[in-house]
Amino acid sequence: MTKLFTPIEFNNVQLKNRIVMSPMCMYSCMEQDGKITPFHMTHYVSRAIGQAGLVMTEATAVVPEGRISHEDLGIWEDGHIDGLKRLNEQIHSYGAKTGIQLAHAGRKARLNSDIYAPSALPFNESSKTPTEMTTADIDNTIDAFKDGAKRAREAGFDIIEIHGAHGYLINQFLSPLTNKRVDEYGGSAENRYRFLSQVIEVVQTEWDGPLFVRISTDEYADGGNTLDDILYFAGQMKQQGIDLIDCSSGGVVPASIKPYPGYQVKRCETIKQETSIATGAVGLITTGIQAEEILQNDRADLVLIGRSLLRNPYWPKAAADELDETLPAPKQYERGWK
Ligand code: FNR
Repeated sequence: MTKLFTPIEFNNVQLKNRIVMSPMCMYSCMEQDGKITPFHMTHYVSRAIGQAGLVMTEATAVVPEGRISHEDLGIWEDGHIDGLKRLNEQIHSYGAKTGIQLAHAGRKARLNSDIYAPSALPFNESSKTPTEMTTADIDNTIDAFKDGAKRAREAGFDIIEIHGAHGYLINQFLSPLTNKRVDEYGGSAENRYRFLSQVIEVVQTEWDGPLFVRISTDEYADGGNTLDDILYFAGQMKQQGIDLIDCSSGGVVPASIKPYPGYQVKRCETIKQETSIATGAVGLITTGIQAEEILQNDRADLVLIGRSLLRNPYWPKAAADELDETLPAPKQYERGWK
């Protein structure tokens, strides 16, 4: 048995394998209401039929002004619960577990309304300038994550992931490039971590299941978070009881990089080794052998697959064939699985 197909448990939730559908925005809400559409059902459920162990939704906004676009999924009101519940039931019926990525875009929201961030700095020349958040705005946003977690529980998700990466709101607090505040939320790494720390605390009042956080482990820019900063944040998350750090990178400020296979895995491995926290590796992991190398060498505990799963919902089957593993077929597909 390879590790890719070895089950793993987080806080009483067992994944049948280590393959996670990486969160990917589909910009497909039809009425700008944040609700699940037939597309979302087909899209996510296909990956459960394809035997991913965990299907994670795209960034799902905890407040309307925290959407990246008007077409994003949302969880800012109780009216969102019903669609998400139906999605969970369908995914569960094919043996996969479900995760939701709770998100707020901050200054990267491309909306008609006002947008908010720790500091009034636009992302680039064509972006809106955000309004600097007051302490009351911060408190309300933290409460919105709490309400989002409560709704996620009511909708039947198995895992919550807090989106702290890619230059969205939480990442904007974490990074010295985007956080120029002079209050208790800005300055030192300890202060920049305060917003995420408080989000984690309130989510945990509503959620006692597995809790993941996605972070950007490299900002590809001078003056951004250093590896020491990232290890400090990881240590704090471990102390707060986070079950896994999902290790991505970039998106904080405009930067052009040349990604290569597994380009984010090294930082993921360092965080796992230095902090003894479970990690998820993501980024140009495209083959079973590559995924297996990462897991066998204890560089990560899960692999998150993005674009390869967009191209092929049956990526787990292709990986199993490559690794000479027998992956049980969904009952309906048994005659075509060999
Ligand atoms: C993404 N990604 C992403 N990440 C995230 O944390 N939340 C999100 O909602 C999205 N949305 C999104 C949409 C689309 C269309 C793509 C292609 C990507 C990033 C994604 O989860 C993953 O980290 C990267 O795509 C790198 O992994 P792959 O694609 O090389 O396996």
